[in-house]
Amino acid sequence: IPAGVDLVEAVNKLKKEKNALLMAHYYQKNEIQDTADFVGDSLALAWEASQTNADIILLSGVLFMGETAKILSPEKKVLIPDFNAGCSLADSCPADAFEDFIKKHPGHIVVTYVNTTADVKALSDIVVTSTNAVKIINSIPKDKNIIFGPDRNLGNYLQSVSGREMVIWDGACHVHEKFSVEKIVDLKKEHPNAEVIAHPECKKPVLTISDFIGSTASLLKYTQTSASNEFIVATESGVLHQMQLASKGKTFIPAPPSDSTCGCNDCEFMRLNTLEKIYLTLKYEYPEVNVEEGVRVKAIKPIEKMFELSG
Ligand code: 13P
Repeated sequence: IPAGVDLVEAVNKLKKEKNALLMAHYYQKNEIQDTADFVGDSLALAWEASQTNADIILLSGVLFMGETAKILSPEKKVLIPDFNAGCSLADSCPADAFEDFIKKHPGHIVVTYVNTTADVKALSDIVVTSTNAVKIINSIPKDKNIIFGPDRNLGNYLQSVSGREMVIWDGACHVHEKFSVEKIVDLKKEHPNAEVIAHPECKKPVLTISDFIGSTASLLKYTQTSASNEFIVATESGVLHQMQLASKGKTFIPAPPSDSTCGCNDCEFMRLNTLEKIYLTLKYEYPEVNVEEGVRVKAIKPIEKMFELSG
């Protein structure tokens, strides 16, 4: 990239020339969120990918989000800024092992969180995101047994709110697992009026002390509607950007992980994406996400089922 190039301007120019849509997850760096045409949670990104008229979708997030966009919009070119931006949760559930797991529990409805590979989606009956998981689990007839994967924390949370026993895969998100309940309690002592809000991928002790539990979009909405002016936020700290923009007078404190003194918890995979990479990705239309057609036609069914059930 030549020195002195204004990256935001250059990205905007390329987007226009190529009829490209830049979508970003809430966990992206602030400057990426500010340059994106659309910022959202996993559900909103998937829905937008299925609806857009753009020729190119550049999805700044992690690989499974790009795959989901491609599954839904196979005729579009789907790009991601860095192929190394994987997801620890998706990686905790290899498709062959998950297939064996399903075989060990015949007759179960297979519900998977969207943080999975296309191959795992292809083995599923219904996909859920953290925005619609409770509603979808509650909609499954009571006489049906459920397999849930890959997040054990979200699975346990869903069991507790729905009262449904599920067979749960033993996976987790390395970022959400790291939050320290002790450090959050200490922060709460310093900020007694702050509400603790948490993503359901967090471990049970963190969820137990939380005032509100929800997906990134639900947490964002909650901070806008709650009467509280101060929040301790237990999810990847990128989401604080939209919270600050939406509620200017309010204070947002990132919940600290157990293993660091920096005070906030970032996903190193999400943070691999940069404006420089976005510019180069758009310019060279690389790296491109592709999903094998046999897998795609199977994987789209549980995602469409999710849209149908989440309304
Ligand atoms: P949501 O944005 O759907 O809450 O999911 C967060 C996440 O786990 C992204 O990897």
